[in-house]
Amino acid sequence: MLLKIVLSGMLQEIPGFKSLRPRVRQDPGFTARYCYSTWLRHLVASFKGGLQKIPEAVAELGPGDSLGTGLAAILSGAARFYALDILPYADSGQNLRVFEELVELFKARSPVPGNDEFPDLKPPLEDYPFPSWILSEALLKESLAAKRLEAIRQILKNTERKPVPGGLEIRYFVPWCDPGVIQEQSLDMIFSQAVLEHVTDLSLAYGAMSRWLKPGGWMSHQIDFKSHGTSKYWNGHWRYPSWAWDMITGKRKYFLNRQPCSVHLALHREHGFEITGELRYAATETLSRHQLASPFRNFSEADFSTSGVLIQSRKK
Ligand SMILES: C[S@@+](CC[C@H](N)C(=O)[O-])C[C@H]1O[C@@H](n2cnc3c(N)ncnc32)[C@H](O)[C@@H]1O
Repeated sequence: MLLKIVLSGMLQEIPGFKSLRPRVRQDPGFTARYCYSTWLRHLVASFKGGLQKIPEAVAELGPGDSLGTGLAAILSGAARFYALDILPYADSGQNLRVFEELVELFKARSPVPGNDEFPDLKPPLEDYPFPSWILSEALLKESLAAKRLEAIRQILKNTERKPVPGGLEIRYFVPWCDPGVIQEQSLDMIFSQAVLEHVTDLSLAYGAMSRWLKPGGWMSHQIDFKSHGTSKYWNGHWRYPSWAWDMITGKRKYFLNRQPCSVHLALHREHGFEITGELRYAATETLSRHQLASPFRNFSEADFSTSGVLIQSRKK
């Protein structure tokens, strides 16, 4: 496994070489259920944590294979969605296929796919019924209106387009590296799923998110601190000294930044976010401290035992 990761990292810059990372979710039905579950988990957890209304303008960092999670936000009533990635995993055909599946899930008021279907998906919820206490019939009548669905399909055929009448807008910025791609103080919510552990320049990303959010705007980030196949131990990636880690990373545009939970919490505060909720997942089967490389073995007890976290916050 490690050899495959190293070889893949070395070959990244050879023309025509595609990462050995396969598209994880080829089947749009499976993808749609994953996106539906991911969005509704963030939405429910956000409403329970203090978000009070459906955000009008939403951005997602690192959507991956499709814009489906953001499309679920649009079907929940958001008017504008901005997806920011650094590699162009999503394409128009996949977005349209996932969109049609999502429409059916919302029309059927399907329960949130739970742990039996996605055992590793986080954040967990207390229960998994369709959240009609957030998505009322009146709201869904508007958000799923035939004319609106048709307008969304047209936008998905070309995400470079300017907003259509009615304010609907869906944009895919890839690769994004300039915070100027989104207007300052224009967003109501930013979320990410399994992305912030991959972002190389965390300071730039948190600074950009702070710039984009309106005062009082909401963030919800699910972060996975585990070793992502680089070790059989969840914290085995912290075992490698930096020279070995550079070899593993190779020429990839991104890999794992190996930063622990406290770094993310500190960056939230530094960039003007008030943390409203922090749900940590405890680790089992771990390497002991003295087996880790030098900066990592001095982690606080909390960082040392946190294998993932949901951080929710509000821009001050
Ligand atoms: C593990 S995938 C997760 C994709 C998706 N959120 C999901 O839940 O399936 C990580 C994603 O983060 C993206 N990513 C890495 N660095 C990024 C950055 N600096 N800004 C935005 N996205 C980034 C990757 O391109 C990839 O799409």
